[in-house]
Amino acid sequence: MVTFWFQMSFLMTFCTLVVRVLCVPLNLLEAVGLYKLYKHVAPFCLYRVSKLYNKKMHERKKELFACLSEFKQPGQQLTILEVGCGTGSNFRFYPAGCKVICTDNNVHYVKYLQRNMLENPHMTYEKFVEVSAEDMRSFEDGCVDVVVCTLVLCSVDNVSQSLREVRRVLRPRGAFFFLEHVVAEPSTWTYFFQHVLKPVCYYIGDGCQVTRATWKHLESAGFSDLKLRHMKAPLIFFNKPHIMGYGVK
Ligand SMILES: C[S@@+](CC[C@H](N)C(=O)[O-])C[C@H]1O[C@@H](n2cnc3c(N)ncnc32)[C@H](O)[C@@H]1O
Ligand SMILES: *[C@@H]1O[C@H](CO)[C@@H](O)[C@H](O)[C@H]1NC(C)=O
Repeated sequence: MVTFWFQMSFLMTFCTLVVRVLCVPLNLLEAVGLYKLYKHVAPFCLYRVSKLYNKKMHERKKELFACLSEFKQPGQQLTILEVGCGTGSNFRFYPAGCKVICTDNNVHYVKYLQRNMLENPHMTYEKFVEVSAEDMRSFEDGCVDVVVCTLVLCSVDNVSQSLREVRRVLRPRGAFFFLEHVVAEPSTWTYFFQHVLKPVCYYIGDGCQVTRATWKHLESAGFSDLKLRHMKAPLIFFNKPHIMGYGVK
């Protein structure tokens, strides 16, 4: 058994090295600033990918967002802030009558966002603000009932700082809803391939880190109540490990 894991870790180091070498041209493109051009292309790709993802994850998302309305304050409109909204693929899961403010650090998503907005007249789309999750100072403390992040904490530069900002903009007893893919359990083939293909995923996925143990950041973010569930998403093995749930401020 021990020999097997030893051989596996040797193989992992070797394969990781090979993939890193193959990615050198991409590193160079990034170093000279050309990879930034991908920011124009990423929305086009994500629009298609998120349609497929929504199809596979429909039940999970429905379940996750079912209790959004519990965070509505009596006599007021439920205000949702989406961080890293991308193309707005979560809109259809939001309760009727809510108000949604969208943020992303890539402004090229707006075209697709407007498409999803027109398809979802049950909610009010308030505005799009181009900000990073790590620094949302254009939003006041405690200004929203709910913050939503789906497949975003894998890509932000600093997860802890992003969660700090999320908690700041939430009103007291407001909630942060998340659905994220995460690193697999060590000593599994999924873990192996996630580590070997990490640089490829980073470039294809517009900065996506497939080996993040995001739940650790959520557990230490200071939510008064954290409902966090690990689950196997009905996707290819590589993307199966997910976490979902919500944290109450
Ligand atoms: C995989 S997409 C997910 C989009 C959308 N939330 C969804 O579930 O379809 C990741 C999104 O996070 C955004 N993003 C990445 N880093 C970010 C950051 N530091 N601040 C804000 N948004 C960020 C990307 O621009 C992209 O729209
Ligand atoms: C991330 O943010 C936290 C909290 O603001 C900070 O303490 C830490 O130094 C940051 N990490 C990096 C790598 O910038």
